[in-house]
Amino acid sequence: MTKDKIEKLIAQLTLQEKIGMIHGNGLFETKGVERLGIPPFRTSDGPRGVRKDFENDTWKDIGLSYDYASYLPCNTALAATWNRALAHETGKLLGREARGRGKDMILAPGINIMRSPLCGRSFEYMGEDPYLVSEMVVPLVQGIEENDVSSCVKHFVANNQETRRIDVDVEVSERALREIYLPGFEAAVRRGKAKGIMGAYNKLGGTHCCHHDGLLNGILRREWGFEGITVSDWGGVHDTMEALMNGLDMEMSVTSDFDDYYMADPLIRMIEDGKVDRKAALAKIDEKVRHILHVMNELHMLDGERSAGGYNDYNDKAALRQTARESVVLLKNDGNILPLDRKKIRKLLVVGENANRQHAPGGGSAEIKALYEITPLLGIQMLLGGNTEVVYKPGYHNEDVGNIWANTGDSENGQADSLNQESRTAQAAPEEKIKRQREINETYRKDALEAAENADAVIFVGGLTHDYDTEGQDRADMRLPYDQDRLITELLKVRPDTIVTLVAGSPVDMSAWLADVSALVYSWYAGMEGGIALAEVLFGEYNPSGHLPETFPVCEKDCPAVALGEFPGSDSVSYGEDIFVGYRYYDTYDVATAFPFGYGLSYTDFVMTGIRAEVIEDTAQSKGVKVSFDISNIGSRAGAAVAQIYVADKCPKVKKAAKELKAFEKIYLEAGETREVTLMLEREAFMYYDETSHSFKVDAGSYMLMLAKNTEEIVDVTEIEFEI
Ligand code: BGC
Repeated sequence: MTKDKIEKLIAQLTLQEKIGMIHGNGLFETKGVERLGIPPFRTSDGPRGVRKDFENDTWKDIGLSYDYASYLPCNTALAATWNRALAHETGKLLGREARGRGKDMILAPGINIMRSPLCGRSFEYMGEDPYLVSEMVVPLVQGIEENDVSSCVKHFVANNQETRRIDVDVEVSERALREIYLPGFEAAVRRGKAKGIMGAYNKLGGTHCCHHDGLLNGILRREWGFEGITVSDWGGVHDTMEALMNGLDMEMSVTSDFDDYYMADPLIRMIEDGKVDRKAALAKIDEKVRHILHVMNELHMLDGERSAGGYNDYNDKAALRQTARESVVLLKNDGNILPLDRKKIRKLLVVGENANRQHAPGGGSAEIKALYEITPLLGIQMLLGGNTEVVYKPGYHNEDVGNIWANTGDSENGQADSLNQESRTAQAAPEEKIKRQREINETYRKDALEAAENADAVIFVGGLTHDYDTEGQDRADMRLPYDQDRLITELLKVRPDTIVTLVAGSPVDMSAWLADVSALVYSWYAGMEGGIALAEVLFGEYNPSGHLPETFPVCEKDCPAVALGEFPGSDSVSYGEDIFVGYRYYDTYDVATAFPFGYGLSYTDFVMTGIRAEVIEDTAQSKGVKVSFDISNIGSRAGAAVAQIYVADKCPKVKKAAKELKAFEKIYLEAGETREVTLMLEREAFMYYDETSHSFKVDAGSYMLMLAKNTEEIVDVTEIEFEI
């Protein structure tokens, strides 16, 4: 359909019909215009797969037997693979299922930067580094949209906490906004051609992001050329005039009074009562409808040429398992006690409630009614088969004491009253629940310790749950819940060779036992194949290759936002750490970490040397840098390394981070194989945001290029002179 046809369609629409298209007429859809062949626009969460269907006007699960979905690894897991091809595969899978379920827009991916490890929704995002986020979000968005489904990249922008998420006012410098918080969105729009963007709940500089002229009209449309639909977060609109004028196309919310939404009857009344210039208002409404029709047209919603989507086949399942495998991060392996040799283990003890827990149904809007979910325990049992006796002891008990959705409990679904700030403040669990948990823990711990004495090997699987990694609530600290520190410490006394495995969506404080553990494995909420993938790593069927997409600080107090007293703030939060987010802070200010950004071990060893760089003119007539190096797998088994290139300005004219990630590649090598790798660094790799000229600039001078395994392990360095 040409632009002309869209204009003709707009000309035929009545004001009522247009209004119907720009606000929710259901919790997840807008009104269509049947007489003109315009269908309703149907959306669905979310980032870990297509969410179950709700009744149109209540948050009640319809209870369909045909809305089970593939449960995908969470975005942090995906980012931990550092594998762009897997991001593409994951996107394809998500898009196909969304389309198969009749959705037009999938409310994903979430890409907010992990400013603090305590943010409850970290698991939905891709870590702390804008470059890594950008590289992963582009193929993910492209994969989704290959299926005639729109993505909805969220939450635009600076939605970095859950505490008071509805009204907190974020104060952030222009430079930090440009260098840290915006690049992922810019990449999704400019390179990924994302068709949807969701405004964030929070305010930025005093204005709600869902109707923020500078963000939506200025940066998004005028600067980046965004042509798609801007959608509000659910209940993120607070003012009719601002929503009308400031660049929001579609208002969605959590309540069923659809006609009372800001961009519904109140907007019509405002026009009728002459409170707004009629012509200007109608032009703005047309603009919104134009964006919506443009996307509908691109998705072939108006011409009957649309792809059907559908459930995923065997190959997709394999991709999903591969993503889960590549996301597992081996954090410690002293004395190479991993992988375990299944032939030597006749009796295996698995301890820990997370071994046996399914995580898909939790977390808030990222919940999934999974087709299935293989837990670690099931994965281990399936992998070992009949020759090993697998004994399971929970070791600790989870009484849901931390779960805001469980402890507030007014509605069946936390989202129904998610706009009520009061109910979103962490509530202490009832005393009897805490007491019960303590008592059960005692019994479970003794039981597990006893069993550990006569097993051939012990695997502990603990970590967090969606009581903690959840929408609507931040964690108070990084400690492991459910008294796990005590259990792990005591287990390690009985069995110093206990393999500690953590399943979680964000960093945890491990200081109570980290020095005593030999083998430590970290798995995220890794999707429906997660348990088998983890088992494959533990028993050496897959050589781990995941790397941390975020720093694991020793404890939350080391995080700059927390240390400054600016997480989570109160009415407002000031991002005083500026650009020094994540490793940019730990690295520059020499703060010891538990595990640095980019870290991850393998069962083999890689040597990377011989970094060389050359400044070249690229096709866009700007300068770029070609970096080459050699990488060898010097161990005895095949594996994958993640080579990371960091750039450091030798004589910065403004304060800069000690170094920044500007290129990476995941490289698969057979045992003994050596390869030359070449990566390109574009001019952007040397830029910083200059607050005086309000633009990105490059300073001429010397730059160091560092070849690294993680931010704390630089293996080779070279220097270049960059002239403008
Ligand atoms: C969340 C969004 C989600 C929306 C719809 C909001 O509470 O912040 O991420 O897509 O609900 O469920």
